[in-house]
Amino acid sequence: MQVHNFEKIWLGAALLLIVGFIATVAYGTVGAGVKMVDDSGGEIDPQAVQQGSTGTGFDDPGVVKQNDSHYVVYVVAQQFQFDPGTGDNPIRVPADTRVTFRVTSADVVHGFSIVETNVNTMVIPGQVSEVTARFDNPGTYGLVCHEYCGAAHHEMGGSIEVVP
Ligand code: CUA
Repeated sequence: MQVHNFEKIWLGAALLLIVGFIATVAYGTVGAGVKMVDDSGGEIDPQAVQQGSTGTGFDDPGVVKQNDSHYVVYVVAQQFQFDPGTGDNPIRVPADTRVTFRVTSADVVHGFSIVETNVNTMVIPGQVSEVTARFDNPGTYGLVCHEYCGAAHHEMGGSIEVVP
């Protein structure tokens, strides 16, 4: 059987493309270290989070003032509340200040989304998600869990009170 020269060239080009595509995908997932989840805040033992024995700010979650222009908020998410955040325990931070949220989960995957802002992250047991925001305007912002986490997922939420 004879293979035409043009056919050989196109076969070669097609193979090259396929190898190129696979290499691109492989590089994207492994080589470049593309992350599918936000573990920007490091790792943590979820069991210790539950027991309050992490030796970190998660043992007594809440707002921690770093200085006049920077606050850190430790939040523990668990079925079906944010601590702080839910119910009569809102997160209270000043307006026009850098606010870093460090959020982790004591049980399953949750979401942490502040309505009307671009704060939106998954909360994964074993990992700390870190998001920094600045609230220009005082007011109450809604906080919602946007990852299905169980029977009362739709009720899991809270609020951020931004004070002048
Ligand atoms: Cu927590 Cu949905």
